[in-house]
Amino acid sequence: IRVAILISGGGSNMVRLVESMVDDHPARPVLIASNDAGAAGLEKAARMGVPTAAIDHRPYGKDRAAFEAELLKPILAAKPDILCLAGFMRVLTPDFVARFEGRMLNIHPSLLPKYPGLHTHKRAIEAGDAEAGCTVHEVTPVLDDGPILGQARVPIETGDTPDDLAARVLVQEHRLYPAVLRRFAEGNREPLYL
Ligand code: GRF
Repeated sequence: IRVAILISGGGSNMVRLVESMVDDHPARPVLIASNDAGAAGLEKAARMGVPTAAIDHRPYGKDRAAFEAELLKPILAAKPDILCLAGFMRVLTPDFVARFEGRMLNIHPSLLPKYPGLHTHKRAIEAGDAEAGCTVHEVTPVLDDGPILGQARVPIETGDTPDDLAARVLVQEHRLYPAVLRRFAEGNREPLYL
């Protein structure tokens, strides 16, 4: 099973996903693509021997369709069976999503359906929540929506800053995403609650 992963930055989730696809795992990484040629994750991917591609979104301005038409080229060439968004920070159009619906995953740093969108940790802290966490879900045309495939929870501690919480949640992202990808690759859609 061929997996392509889209990143925008450090790619710490991508690294854990690539590291997990070994031995008897049914999937292998075939491409790491980014909307930023400077994404640190691209170098990590190259060091792990995974082909990479970078399509800078900035020259396309607001023309999402034009950017996605370029981004699709290396993705379609890699012939992925599954597309994983991992720290990918561009909103994808419904047309792009429709090409991969049912085989496209994303990790979002909140306990969806709470806090779709940005600044999730700040919002959870300011709401006085006792818990936060991360969610892996199937990507659908509605942002940060779609069937939940897994969640992991962490406590919010008194005095937590958004960065404190982000660091605590990131540890769980790195556990959750590889576990969910393996189940998904094995055809198991049962949600996993860590
Ligand atoms: C993480 O905070 C994650 O919650 C979100 O993107 C951020 C960076 O992830 N998905 P990564 O290190 O680039 O995987």
